[in-house]
Amino acid sequence: MKNYIQAEEWNIIEEGFDPHLNKISESLFSLGNGRMGQRANFEESYSGDTLQGNYVAGVYYPDKTRVGWWKNGYPEYFAKVLNAANWMGLGIRLDGEELDLNLCKVTGFKRILNMKEGYLERSFNAELASGKQISVTAKRFFSIANDEIAALHYQLTALNFSGKLELTSFIDGDVKNQDSNYDEKFWDEVGRTQNDSGSYLTMRTKKTDFDVVTGVKTLVFTKAGQSQLSADTAVKDKYLAELTAVDLTAGEAVDIYKIATNLSSQNYDSAELTTSATAVLEAAVLKGFTALLEEQAAAWATKWEEGDIIIEGDVAAQQAIRFNIFQLNQTYTGKDARLNIGPKGFTGEKYGGSTYWDTEAYCIPFYLSTAPQEVSKNLLVYRYKHLEKAIENAQKLGFDKGAALYPMVTMNGEECHNEWEITFEEIHRNGAIAFAIFNYIRYTGDQSYLKEYGLEVLIGIARFWKQRVNWSEARQQYVMLGVTGPNEYENNVNNNWYTSTLAAWCLKYAVEATEIVKAEDPARYQEIAGKVNLEEAQEFADWKAVSENIYLPYDEEKGIFLQQDGFLDKEQTLVSELPASQRPINQKWSWDRILRSCFIKQADVLQGMYFFEDDYDMESLRRNFDFYESRTVHESSLSPCVHSILAAKLNDGEKAYEFYLRTSRLDLDDYNNDTEDGLHITSMAGTWMSIVEGFAGMRVRNNQLSFSPFLPEQWNSFSFNIGFRGVQLKIKVTRDDITIVNPAKTMMDINIFNQLHSVPAGETVIAWKGMAV
Ligand code: BGC
Repeated sequence: MKNYIQAEEWNIIEEGFDPHLNKISESLFSLGNGRMGQRANFEESYSGDTLQGNYVAGVYYPDKTRVGWWKNGYPEYFAKVLNAANWMGLGIRLDGEELDLNLCKVTGFKRILNMKEGYLERSFNAELASGKQISVTAKRFFSIANDEIAALHYQLTALNFSGKLELTSFIDGDVKNQDSNYDEKFWDEVGRTQNDSGSYLTMRTKKTDFDVVTGVKTLVFTKAGQSQLSADTAVKDKYLAELTAVDLTAGEAVDIYKIATNLSSQNYDSAELTTSATAVLEAAVLKGFTALLEEQAAAWATKWEEGDIIIEGDVAAQQAIRFNIFQLNQTYTGKDARLNIGPKGFTGEKYGGSTYWDTEAYCIPFYLSTAPQEVSKNLLVYRYKHLEKAIENAQKLGFDKGAALYPMVTMNGEECHNEWEITFEEIHRNGAIAFAIFNYIRYTGDQSYLKEYGLEVLIGIARFWKQRVNWSEARQQYVMLGVTGPNEYENNVNNNWYTSTLAAWCLKYAVEATEIVKAEDPARYQEIAGKVNLEEAQEFADWKAVSENIYLPYDEEKGIFLQQDGFLDKEQTLVSELPASQRPINQKWSWDRILRSCFIKQADVLQGMYFFEDDYDMESLRRNFDFYESRTVHESSLSPCVHSILAAKLNDGEKAYEFYLRTSRLDLDDYNNDTEDGLHITSMAGTWMSIVEGFAGMRVRNNQLSFSPFLPEQWNSFSFNIGFRGVQLKIKVTRDDITIVNPAKTMMDINIFNQLHSVPAGETVIAWKGMAV
């Protein structure tokens, strides 16, 4: 664990330059706008340890799979988000000497990520080997007001000398992915243009043929006025530069601005890319850095209005939750249904920038409450668009008749994961996709989603489950063999309770959803039934049979659901008995030892009890929680939030807070020693859930919001903003009461501790100590 980030409510602050922490900071201070993003690499040269990262959403490379033992059904490739051209590079030479923070004496170094307004600022003083001293302030951002634009203002002042600054402002497309399987480069240059409006470098991805143009306009000002830049004549492949040399006078600043755009052939005709980039860039340059930054601050103000959480009495917690919310909003803005949320967002290469079940199980609740409805809808539509591929994927594995198996990891709907125990067996992901449809409709009330898109997906998923089970003569029940549940520390198990429970629910929900569409829009129902060749009578009978008679392992004596067949045969040790020296077990133990142990990577049975909480009474929840929590090592960052929410439900505030702490500052304090690879973006949504669903106990039941709040001892109060069915609510929880501001013109019915309150327009304070209302 590191502790070098200063706690401040709205800012992430690093003071002092420690090259050993640089890659961690590059992740923490990352910027993005849903369309593109970047690690916090330096603008000027840096010969120290760094992970260079610039990413364009949806632009990927199918890197040829590498496996030891090929198995039929494996995907040919693993799609990877690409390290793309670096637009902000600045080569800075002072009287011939290169500025490189690895080679100078650096003082007064400070990085600030301003989350309120959405920019990164870095300032430092540097003394070069020659003794020349300079000071630098660099500010940059990726606009969320116009997601095709990024901008930089780099200000350099000579402190103890007058001399010459030679500036090379460049776009560098000669980049590679650190995680390339065969050490290949993924881009070819296909075009370059330099004219008065800027420099434009067009790169094409190998195999996938995405074209991305990076356009940059550089402006340089000294006291004497604007300097002219000229194209670099020393032509280098995949690299474009503009040069200038200016006189430096001690104490006088030189201002360098770079306004940049990235456009891709996903959104523009390839032949028109440079022309389009020119138009976008010219408009942005005309606005200028300051106006663009003002737009950025205004756009972020709206985001915060929609989704801020305010914690009083604990600055570190306040900073952490804002950091989580900020990064989630930087990663996904919901404007484009072809895009999704990679577990590392735009902050690193790990997980290939691909989509996992994390989106449906963890991220959807965050966007449902904190962003316009369209945003979470687009996350669902993304899977609708991949339905055909999910059907093909299932066919490859031997399923038929329209059965759909969504991939565990994907960019374009095709499976990219190639470990058999996950690719073929971690099929619960299918259920999370169905659950997300249900969750979206439960929250928004938007039933029309079913007939528009949802029903087809649910039918495909139901068909898969129906075919994936088999009838056991011995049990006289359906069984589901050879699966991996969310707990990846068990593979190829029979009857994983979570997967089977989810499958049964999906089959039931698919029937219900069909009935809804049929009743509401018979013509549309006929259309869908025709399209998917639904043999309603037979298929429904089959689905019902499976859903009502699937085997769900249960231990009568302990009164708990069994994670899978034979779970109790394992030696039952508790995490509390595991010496610290043995943890994390995934680094300390052999895989077979992990598989034989009873230790659980992440919520599994408890994930199911979280999804379907209303089906279980508190006693059952308590028994299962006590049993499974004591065996869970939480070696996935997705795990603690579910435990936190359930602990809160069980009135164990202390535990709920303890679990919350495990993820809230996971990256800021580098708990797992892996922040340098990138941030844990999808688990950040879990942190939000711990507060809103855990501490505030927010749920939607019967089209109404309900709360059962408690306040962690360490806090004085917490408040949060959410949108619910067109109303932007503000909710504040203190030690004794909950205040709900309902700005709508009409009254709103809200449940608090199971009592219905009609909240009039305006502010309502409801006390709960002793339930005096
Ligand atoms: C977890 C998965 C998750 C993946 C990406 C793994 O460690 O076990 O549940 O989908 O990370 O976040």
